[in-house]
Amino acid sequence: MNILVIGGGGREHTLCWKLNQSAQCKNLFAAPGNAGTASCATNLPLGVSDFEGLKAAVLEHQIDLVVVGPEDPLVLGIHDFFLQDPLLADVGIIGPQKEAATLEGSKAFAKAFMNRHDIPTAAYAEFTAETVREGEAYLEQSQPPYVLKADGLAAGKGVLILDELEEAKKELRHMLLESKFGKASSKVVIEEFLSGIELSCFVLTDGKNYITLPMAKDYKRIGEGDTGLNTGGMGAISPVPFVDDLFKEKIENQIVRPTIEGLQKDSIPYQGFIFIGLIKVAGEPKVIEYNVRMGDPETEVVIPRVKNDLVTIFKAVQEKRLHEVELEVTPETAATVMAVSKGYPEAYEKGKVILGIEKDKMIFQAGTQLVEGAIHTSGGRVLAVTSLGEDHQQAVQKSYKTLSKIDFEGIHYRKDIGFDL
Ligand code: AMP
Ligand code: GLY
Repeated sequence: MNILVIGGGGREHTLCWKLNQSAQCKNLFAAPGNAGTASCATNLPLGVSDFEGLKAAVLEHQIDLVVVGPEDPLVLGIHDFFLQDPLLADVGIIGPQKEAATLEGSKAFAKAFMNRHDIPTAAYAEFTAETVREGEAYLEQSQPPYVLKADGLAAGKGVLILDELEEAKKELRHMLLESKFGKASSKVVIEEFLSGIELSCFVLTDGKNYITLPMAKDYKRIGEGDTGLNTGGMGAISPVPFVDDLFKEKIENQIVRPTIEGLQKDSIPYQGFIFIGLIKVAGEPKVIEYNVRMGDPETEVVIPRVKNDLVTIFKAVQEKRLHEVELEVTPETAATVMAVSKGYPEAYEKGKVILGIEKDKMIFQAGTQLVEGAIHTSGGRVLAVTSLGEDHQQAVQKSYKTLSKIDFEGIHYRKDIGFDL
């Protein structure tokens, strides 16, 4: 079959790398892709939310299956766009329809969903410009730290955690009355602060059946020891050593199954990945957030551990027979370390030549592009170097060894991925 992967980051390079290993994959395309996907797929110069452009590409290249990487096109309704077009109605899509994508597109929608289906999460209340006074009163009655979340998509920046009441009230007003995060903060969710260790759980569903993929832990801060500014992710490990069988069972019974059943009870169709951000609080799992896609850089450690043919799995999703798939996962630990551009996550440098990418290593490219045949940096997160090992220490060390041979001007990566495990 012919497959199109939408997106151009490390997640999409990993998906292309895996799909390309399948004998069932005839022609593989990425839109827009990057220098990494160019080595295993044909890049198409299209934006991820250019639905008309993507439609033309799907028809021209006779695409059978579209795998949507990032959240934006899902929240904008790419799946619905395909279903409504008679020329595209037969094309399979991995990624939910607009209604389900609201689980990521609106924090208030996600919280109401969890409450309705008894899925453990932080206590909350939601406010708009009309109810800003009530919001301030709610903060006065809450305990610090105060957690304020812009309801809509805010490129990962819409969550504020504040220690001071006055600061929290000021930020609440800033979000609701002065559009701090644009339209995304026209509604704000105020949440109970949860203290614990975070992990990510990945589920693939056809709407009825599901498989739980390996868990992962990512490292979001720029600095060693989890300090400094938040980033898209500086590294990840899978499996997560503090997830034992009992905790896994709790996640399955209290969160994963109720989520899938909740979607069915609410008659919300879903075909695709669900990324459940979890926190372990006193031995119990609670949901921090839902995402309607895979994580990045979590994909770079989850997918390399899956032994199955990914095309077989995606076909089973499309044909709603995911219960027939027996997931096979390597017991080895995968670690990925993200190399980023100088300045990231603030204004960063671009256009630097990258040297030392070894072909036989799992080097998943993110912000890269080919310029006259040479690989150049083109984004903040540049490449994710993944290795497998007997444990996370061994896997991380292998990635550091590979990274020691890679160079571009201003290269930076965290030297302590897995330090807290
Ligand atoms: P979110 O975009 O909802 O995933 O939030 C971003 C990050 O903020 C999470 O990964 C957590 O580290 C932190 N966070 C979000 N909600 C809470 C909460 N209720 N308690 C503590 N930390 C939180
Ligand atoms: N690594 C976090 C995310 O993909 O949202």
